[in-house]
Amino acid sequence: MCSCKADKQPVHLSVLLDEVIQFLNPEDGKVYVDGNLGLGGHSGAILEASSPAGRVIGFDWDQEALSQARVNLAKYQGRIDYVRRNFAEIEEELKNRGIAGVDGLVLDLGLSSLQLDTSNRGFSFQGSQSLDMRMDIRRPETAADLLNHVSEEELADIFYFYGEERQARRIAANITDTRKQHPFVTTDQLVSVVEKSVPRRFWPKKIHVATKVFQALRIAVNGELDNLEKILGALDRVICPGGRICIISFHSLEDRLVKRAFRDNPALEVITSKPVKASSEEVAVNSRSRSARMRVAMVGGR
Ligand SMILES: C[S@@+](CC[C@H](N)C(=O)[O-])C[C@H]1O[C@@H](n2cnc3c(N)ncnc32)[C@H](O)[C@@H]1O
Repeated sequence: MCSCKADKQPVHLSVLLDEVIQFLNPEDGKVYVDGNLGLGGHSGAILEASSPAGRVIGFDWDQEALSQARVNLAKYQGRIDYVRRNFAEIEEELKNRGIAGVDGLVLDLGLSSLQLDTSNRGFSFQGSQSLDMRMDIRRPETAADLLNHVSEEELADIFYFYGEERQARRIAANITDTRKQHPFVTTDQLVSVVEKSVPRRFWPKKIHVATKVFQALRIAVNGELDNLEKILGALDRVICPGGRICIISFHSLEDRLVKRAFRDNPALEVITSKPVKASSEEVAVNSRSRSARMRVAMVGGR
């Protein structure tokens, strides 16, 4: 995840940047996929390290992120392709391009700070924003659609399984009560229902009381775990033997999927027995790196 300031051009701090380059070990003339291009921080470092002829195919399904990445990476024009597509479809995209496999893959999952802080698309519980939460605005359902139309049981499951929220049933019941009078439109309506639903003694100390509910809804709206599972199942078909895969996740649901997929795929050699975490120096300048966990594997057979 990256951090950026809202003034002028977004400035970004890519998480675990040195570690990604160290493990991926980009080489001149090779081809890499960045599945979460965002503002282009990891791609820029890969292009720098693989100069003069290394290439990147950069995926992001958010048009705003792609436009910003084009600006940030302008000096690498000719060595990077921009793809507005779900990273779950990397295999199909490579096939369409006639590429049998690439030399490495980096995934830096989740949201960029451009989306969190400045997109006004409902990812943040600060202020009052439209309850959208789609990273790709071509996706069919917004967070408001889910809150207003799915059953109480389904909502509770979303909050419990994707947010690990213990008060899931109570929150879901209050949402279905509230929406009978006032359909959900803005983030502050949701925050207010969560605040009323969770007894004060259960409010978390380090995070906002609505954090887990927002995370859960975002995961559901964007199909995040399904997308991750799909690419995890295709790794040995999209990466050439000897190629490395670096995956940075930001919560335990994702990290668990990555850990299991690496362990259970006989074509992969796990390079990091424990996940790589951000140094205290990095956490001091970018607090979002605190929850980052990177796992690295290599496709065997070379
Ligand atoms: C954490 S940011 C990436 C930051 C980037 N690595 C950098 O250094 O600037 C995650 C980006 O991935 C994109 N994204 C998330 N899930 C995606 C998916 N399934 N397919 C394509 N892009 C996705 C988001 O739109 C966001 O721009």
